[in-house]
Amino acid sequence: MPKASGESSTGALWGARFTDGPSAELAALSRSTQFDWQLYPYDIAGSKAHAKALSAAGYLSSLELERMLEALDELRSRIDAGEFVPLESDEDVHFALERGLVEIAGAELGGKLRAGRSRNDQIATLVRLYLLDHASRISTLVVHLVDAIVSQAEVAGEAPMPGRTHMQHAQPVLLAHHLLAYAWPLVRNLERLRDWRVRASFSPYGGGALAGNGFGLDVKLVAQELGLSEPSENSMDATASRDVVAEFAYIAAQLGIDLSRFAEDIIIWATKEFGFVRLHDAYSTGSSIMPQKKNPDIAELARGKTGRLIGNLAGLLATFKGLPLAYDRDLQEDKEPVFDSVVTLEVLLPAFTGMIATLEFDTARMARLAPAGFALATDVADWLVRKGVPFRDAHEVSGALVSFCEREGLELDEPTDEQYASLSPLLTSELRASLTVEASLAARSSPGGTAPARVREQISALTQRVRSLDKAEL
Ligand code: ARG
Repeated sequence: MPKASGESSTGALWGARFTDGPSAELAALSRSTQFDWQLYPYDIAGSKAHAKALSAAGYLSSLELERMLEALDELRSRIDAGEFVPLESDEDVHFALERGLVEIAGAELGGKLRAGRSRNDQIATLVRLYLLDHASRISTLVVHLVDAIVSQAEVAGEAPMPGRTHMQHAQPVLLAHHLLAYAWPLVRNLERLRDWRVRASFSPYGGGALAGNGFGLDVKLVAQELGLSEPSENSMDATASRDVVAEFAYIAAQLGIDLSRFAEDIIIWATKEFGFVRLHDAYSTGSSIMPQKKNPDIAELARGKTGRLIGNLAGLLATFKGLPLAYDRDLQEDKEPVFDSVVTLEVLLPAFTGMIATLEFDTARMARLAPAGFALATDVADWLVRKGVPFRDAHEVSGALVSFCEREGLELDEPTDEQYASLSPLLTSELRASLTVEASLAARSSPGGTAPARVREQISALTQRVRSLDKAEL
């Protein structure tokens, strides 16, 4: 004999055909109020829009509509004030809110609101409304981070640093160029959120359980009331698809990955060996045992939390895979991972921005190291090519010079004219003028290159691109 959950199922959304209430075990498994309760403002907004549609279709008199809207507002205030909370016996947020509505408006009026809708079209709509709101907040936080990066790039000006590939010295670049390389992916994520918004803005409301509603409700009106664009074209798709949730989780994971790569550089730059950057006291932590320690915890947490963001996406995809149409209860599992991605980004982004905004670069040290490791060897080859030497041969000559200098403990511009000539008749004293970091940087003047003039253009292009993401669209 299954044990009922203790509280009666009075007010239950589906109790009538059952003689027994849900077992305590089922109730515990099934309950979602511990995470979906935060959807109550959206649920109440949906209910108000639905009430208006019911009234427009003749199922609520104008007096009833007025009382219904008042009761919903009253319910909202009671929840805001902490006076109405979900009970153990409330299966989910919808369940609890209908109980609350009935308490305030009475069973007769409160009982009318469910006509023409189902928790299936409700929840599919609410999760969109929640994500649309948070996408705006996250976009604003990302814009702040991009602004902080641009400010640092402006402060860096024409300061050079070693550019690396495979973590090995490759060619000098501007510090500003390196920093901006982390801003562009963030801008693409802003654009992704903007594009996602179009797909997220369709309204599942009116789709009912799966087949649509039979009351001739003006679902366009409902969509409009909720700030959404259009009702979905297919009620089964509307109630059963969650690609919009997965896509949001992907953008969140991608954002994490982009922060994590930046974080990795900061962690390395802050080591004694690199000594490129100092973290601000307010954005770093100490050690409980080693008094000298200053740890890049924000960067490390960015890297760590990215694992979580990726996990949330992977979990969602696994949940959605193989679900038959239409709604299945598995879909309740869409919320915790995506809510977690939202919360993670909303706590991570401000801290990360603070860390970036307060970085202090040792530009003198970076400039000293910019040509190290024979980072100007490509400039030797490029100089020869400009003299008409095929690059293949130029590469050989430059390689021979590097190997000579390495043996002799010299920099590339330090051999005598005779030593140059002994390596190749093509190497003349004129080469030395090209072998400066400034010359190397200025030469890389292709669009998107690290030449100071290009980097200045890049800053204004980036700023424009961010500003053109119309605030309202984000
Ligand atoms: N709590 C459910 C969810 O999050 C709401 C929809 C329940 N629908 C149902 N037929 N049991 O998906």
